Parts: sequence; C-alpha cells; structure tokens
Amino acid sequence: MYFYGTFPEDFLWGVSSSAYQIEGGWDADGKGPSIWDNFTHIPGNIKNNDTGDVACDSYNKVDEDLYLLRALKVNSYRFSLSWPRIFPNGRNSSINSYGVDYYNRLIDGLLTRNITPMVTLHHWDLPQALQDIGGWANPTMVDLFDSFADFCFQTFGDRVKFWMTFNEAVYISWLGYDTGEFPPNIKDNPGIAVYNVTHIILKAHARVYHTYDQKYREHQKGVISLTINVDWVEPKNPSDPRDIEAADRFLQFMGGWFTHPVFKNGDYPDAMKWKVGNRSELQKLPSSRLPVFTEEEKDYIRGTADVFCLNYYTAKIIQHKTTRLKPYSYENDQEQVSEFDSSWPPSALETVRAVPWGLRRLLNWIKEEYGNPPIYITENGVGIKSKSDVDDTSRIYYLKTHINEALKASRLDGVNLRGYTIWSLMDNFEWLRGYEPRFGLHHVDFENPNRPRTPKRSAIYYSEIIRQNGVPLPEEEDH
Ligand code: NOJ
Repeated sequence: MYFYGTFPEDFLWGVSSSAYQIEGGWDADGKGPSIWDNFTHIPGNIKNNDTGDVACDSYNKVDEDLYLLRALKVNSYRFSLSWPRIFPNGRNSSINSYGVDYYNRLIDGLLTRNITPMVTLHHWDLPQALQDIGGWANPTMVDLFDSFADFCFQTFGDRVKFWMTFNEAVYISWLGYDTGEFPPNIKDNPGIAVYNVTHIILKAHARVYHTYDQKYREHQKGVISLTINVDWVEPKNPSDPRDIEAADRFLQFMGGWFTHPVFKNGDYPDAMKWKVGNRSELQKLPSSRLPVFTEEEKDYIRGTADVFCLNYYTAKIIQHKTTRLKPYSYENDQEQVSEFDSSWPPSALETVRAVPWGLRRLLNWIKEEYGNPPIYITENGVGIKSKSDVDDTSRIYYLKTHINEALKASRLDGVNLRGYTIWSLMDNFEWLRGYEPRFGLHHVDFENPNRPRTPKRSAIYYSEIIRQNGVPLPEEEDH
C-alpha cells in the first residue's frame, strides 16, 4: 500500500558523493596519491580502464556543484574529504593549503545556501604513503587517522556539525584485506587480516570520537558517527530456525561487526564470536581468528556514536550452509549462502534487486537492536547502465518506493528517522565498474572536457518530494 504523509519537521533531505568519485584533480596543486589513484592507473584493474583522474572535475567546479544542490533544494549535502589532498603524505607534517581552500570554499558555499554539510573523513582513498607502512593493518593508523581528524575538526568544525569517521568500513576490511578486489589488494592472509583490520578501524573510530568529545564538542556542538551499509535479508525457509539464525548472522557480520561494539557493549556480536571462535577451534588454531578487546578497550569503544548512519541498497534471501573449514575466509565464516546478490556494484538494473520493504524492515531491526537511535539514511539509490538517459523513470520508481517505506518506518513504526540522502548528486566513478553504472540525479558527460551536468527527471522528482517534505495526500482527496 502506498502511504501518504510527511516527514518530521527539520528532516534532512540530501544527496551524497565522495571525494575520489567526483573530484578529479588527482595530482593537482600538490595533492598526494591515494591507493585508488595508483590502483586505477594499472591497466586492467577497472572496467574500460577508467580512472578518477578527472572524474566529474568537481575540484574545479565548486560553483557548478553548489548550483546543482541549490536547484535541487536539498538541505544537506554528504561528501568526503580527500585525506591525501589535505595531507599529501598522510601526516600533518605536509599540510596542503590548496586542498584546505577547496573544502573551505565548498563548505562556505553550502552554508550560504542553507545546506548542512555532512562530512565523511574517510571514504576509502587512503594516502599511498600510509599504505606503504601497512595501511589499516598497522596499529599506528589509530594515531595517524586521529591526527588527520583532529586537523579537520580544528579547520572545518566551526562550520561542519555532522561528521562520519568511516564510510562502509566493511568493504575496506573485506574487499581490501580478504578477497583483495579493492586496493590495497591484500589476499594472502584471508580470514585473519580482515578481522585484525576491523579491530584497528574500530579503535581508530573510537579514538577520533573521543578527540571530538574532549576537544571540540563543547564549542562546536556537532555530532559524530560512522556509516555502515547493510543489505536486508530474509531467511529462505522462515520455519527453519537455522535459516533464521543464518539471516541474523548475516546482519551481524555485515553491520553488527561495527555497530554492536559502538552502539551496544564495546564488543563484537555473539554470533560472530561464536562462529569465528568455533571454526578456529575446529581448525585447531590456538585462539580465535576474531581478536579480543580488553575491558578497557570495550569501555573506550562503547557509546562512540551520536547518531546511526545507514547506507541501504538491496536485500537478499539467506540459507544456512555449513562451509568448508579451509581456506579461511570472512565469507566462509558466515556459513550461509544467499540468493540475489549476483554482482555489486551493479552493472545493470537486473543485477541488484530493488526491495523497498527491506529498508523498512532494516530500519525496524536497527530500532529494536540498538534501542531506537536517531537514524540517518546516508545513501540510497540505484545504478543504471545507460550513458545518456536523463529520462530515468526506473530511478524515480526506485526512489519513490524507498522513500515511501522510509515514511512508513517513521510515521507508523516509530523509527526515529532524521534524514534521507540519495546516492548520488551526479554520475561518478563507480569503483571497479568505472563510469558504467550511473547513479546520478544529474547526468555527467564524461566525454566532454567540461564535464557538463544535466538534471535527470529524477532530480526534478526529488526536488518536489523535498518541497513537500514527503508525499502529502493529494489535495483533491484532502477534502
Ligand atoms: C556505496 C559507497 O559508499 C559509494 O562509494 C558507492 O558509489 C555507492 N555505494 C554505490 O555503489
């Protein structure tokens, strides 16, 4: 059933992007290389050998981007800071004032237009110099990330009041250090490195939260969190307890891995501790491959998020399956198989299922699991493989149905939903898939050196939703 109504007052309506995917200017004005710059420069790594060298050229198009945002009438814009643009060698001994200026112009421009900046500190583009010392596998990263974050709070925090430490960290650990599909392409220690990396990432997140809390919160009065991505899952056979358990396990492995420690008790979900612990025992290892937090670390990590930030795209069906003990891997540890997750990122509509009701269920799961936290949907959207289509009816359908399920969660289920953000403001570099899947509300012509942007029909549709703060009952039915 379609549900008519509006969202709470002061609801944040936004669009999202990330530095590497839109900025270009990969070596402009002293920017240092990131692991994604180097990875995309090797032929064969990315679809059509695309790179983010120029991308949407947003580094040179602050005014154009602000114009699009203003025209959409969003009241928030989620973007990320390029760490190597600000600290070319990753450390604060190398501050690049041109990079700082770029973000200052963007942030000031947003505020002039009454648009709230929502800023991600790390959206995957790690400075290569830090990868050279082991990247997220090196515990020193806790200090290094903290020093970058501290600089950002000090420099931009007078105007930025919404911070996210990591975007979708599950992909940093899993694709970066287990399957090796993403840079840094490490696959020689699967089932082990993946857990150690997340262990460090969680400590880094907590450290940055405490820095904000201790040094900045009182004056800057912002909020800080991390963004997780979870697919909704349904058990294949709802009357088989093993499938129900496998479905819950999936949610815990994909999202709870990060949010259980942060929003609950400073520790990993039981489902993960049991599964990885048990398998490690069967594998005759001296201890679990899932590392253990000390009591002190648990205290330090618990409660380190002010709001819940969620990226949602799709759902799948999960069935329990006992998997081989070897080779070790994060995926094997989950002991389940899923249907409908053929390929991500999607190259065509058919490969990712639009499951709007999965969003409502997931929001309710978060509400129950974590005690009704304020939730922001920080990404939702669809990638379509089509070069020139501004007539994107299928995207309108996707957005309309997802926004409606979000509305039901807010109005009917009592989910404390505070914002909704579309991925993405415009077509951009979609990681391994290059420029093939188009996620934008604006079309970008990547053949044209000026990278002209054109609103799609979905942009017009979205601005109408924003204007009405939802989907109020059509007037003629009102009387
Ligand atoms: C997840 C990521 O945060 C973003 O970088 C990506 O482009 C979109 N979702 C779509 O795959």
